[in-house]
Amino acid sequence: MPGSSRLQPETTNEGVGIILRKHEDEQLDKQDEQIRIIATQAFADQKPGTSGLRKKTAHFRQPHYLENFIQSIFDTQPALQGGTLVVGGDGRFFNREATGIIARMAAANGVRRLLVGRGGLLSTPAASCVIRKYAAGGGIILSASHNPGGEQGDFGVKFNAANGGPAPESVTAAIHARSLEIDQYRILDAAEPDIDTPGTHSLGGMQLEVIDPVSDYADLMRSLFDFPAIRALFAGGFRVCFDAMHAITGPYARAILEQELGAPAGTVIHGEPLEDFGGGHPDPNLVHARELVAALAEEGGPEFGAASDGDGDRNMILGRGAYASPSDSLAVMLANAGHIPGYAGRVSGVARSMPTSTAVDRVAQELGIPCYETPTGWKFFGNLLDAGKITLCGEESFGTGADHIREKDGLWAVLYWLNIIAARRVSVAELLDEHWARFGRNYYTRHDFEGLPEEAGRAIMEHLRAGLNSLTGRQLGTLTVQHADEFSYTDPVDGSVSSAQGIRVAFDDDSRIVYRLSGTGTSGATLRVYLERRVVSPRDGDPQQVLADLIAASVDLADLQALAGRTTADVVT
Ligand code: G1P
Ligand code: ZN
Repeated sequence: MPGSSRLQPETTNEGVGIILRKHEDEQLDKQDEQIRIIATQAFADQKPGTSGLRKKTAHFRQPHYLENFIQSIFDTQPALQGGTLVVGGDGRFFNREATGIIARMAAANGVRRLLVGRGGLLSTPAASCVIRKYAAGGGIILSASHNPGGEQGDFGVKFNAANGGPAPESVTAAIHARSLEIDQYRILDAAEPDIDTPGTHSLGGMQLEVIDPVSDYADLMRSLFDFPAIRALFAGGFRVCFDAMHAITGPYARAILEQELGAPAGTVIHGEPLEDFGGGHPDPNLVHARELVAALAEEGGPEFGAASDGDGDRNMILGRGAYASPSDSLAVMLANAGHIPGYAGRVSGVARSMPTSTAVDRVAQELGIPCYETPTGWKFFGNLLDAGKITLCGEESFGTGADHIREKDGLWAVLYWLNIIAARRVSVAELLDEHWARFGRNYYTRHDFEGLPEEAGRAIMEHLRAGLNSLTGRQLGTLTVQHADEFSYTDPVDGSVSSAQGIRVAFDDDSRIVYRLSGTGTSGATLRVYLERRVVSPRDGDPQQVLADLIAASVDLADLQALAGRTTADVVT
């Protein structure tokens, strides 16, 4: 163990450091690798947000920044010593270099076995799958999800726990606390490790296993879905367009949809992962997946369209002339679980994040299963999934998932929809129409006000909070406020409380507005305004029109003109 080794002070080019000779009594490796202890200073800004630590790439690349955060993980997760760790990322700029640094730090921190996706690649869902399959003590995922990448873009690091899911708040809080006091980190003094040759290598006594990033994940998908039925659907000429947005899902979608299920070559577009995602914004929505949307609109175009994000955990589902909003998608998936081999007859419950529409609640009610409402962020589903309280879950932000892993899963959602279509031979539009006719329709939209000064973001939330007590009964146009509160969540499994999770305002006509500040941005503040109205009939309007009065009320209620100088959103989804 490193602690039992003899210390030798040494001056390094990174400041005064100390060198440790590993396994002093043992025969040294042929490379004579040594553990170096580097003196460092704490950074005050390493508090993980909704989904890990996200910063501008340049910020992450400043000396010691990545290393401090990684060492804070090792210092607070003793189970990794002598254990197994998984590392991989979405292929964005700095992914490869960071993987090498983490591998050398893992070796210096006593990790016994490190599983690395070839080339440092692993989608977020695949990382979760690998952590669970190989009983790892945790995983480090390198991604800033759907945020742009490249030298000028964003980078991120997420720590996932042994259950394969995002570390719970208690763990991220401990890592953050450690990052505030850290004064040294450990790293193996070795050359860049080989992360491209599959197989097992030795790195300073640690077993470094380079694994195929796709195969374990593909095995899992095969075990959940009716692959022969989907293969038959494709063989019958059903055409799909999958937009990988030059991000991580390209290799996964090609292997599963094209090679295994027989969809024609070219089904996957933008399938080559690029360090800057081709300059695009790898966010699967109607604005950023423009080519996909255009392909679906073409005369004689594909029947089904889908896209995934930077790290492969988000999804968007389209049909010809149809768009399944993520909230509706979750509801449709639950209502059709009986057609999916992996879920038929075994859905124990469902969960959605608070701002996600209540469409799924109606289905759960009819099925007689519980529906949990959690704060935003996938980490809140982990306990419910581990305890078997829920089987499916989702968020309005293009995230859907289940108990097969502990992350949301983009390609899984696409296969789920394809399995429903293969089993029932209906179109996306027909599925949605049928669903709305049966359960009513929750018109839904999210309006994002980006790049606000942090002060303005805080002021808006403070203003809303201050008005909460006097809101009930207030008239806004033709709408009357029925109830208003600030969402606080008590985890039903461990009793932990997460407060201040968003302001909710419900109206007497079955509509509501939710306000919260984003926890994933890397500069300024982003205000998210979620708007929803349940309509039993008619059901074929444009959400922006159906919700126009609510949208106007949301701007007035938050006093956006006075507090932020804005009345229209930057991004509408
Ligand atoms: C956003 C989404 C949230 C999702 C998270 C990570 O977080 O709103 O649902 O879990 O990204 O993908 P936010 O920026 O709103 O904090
Ligand atoms: Zn993502």
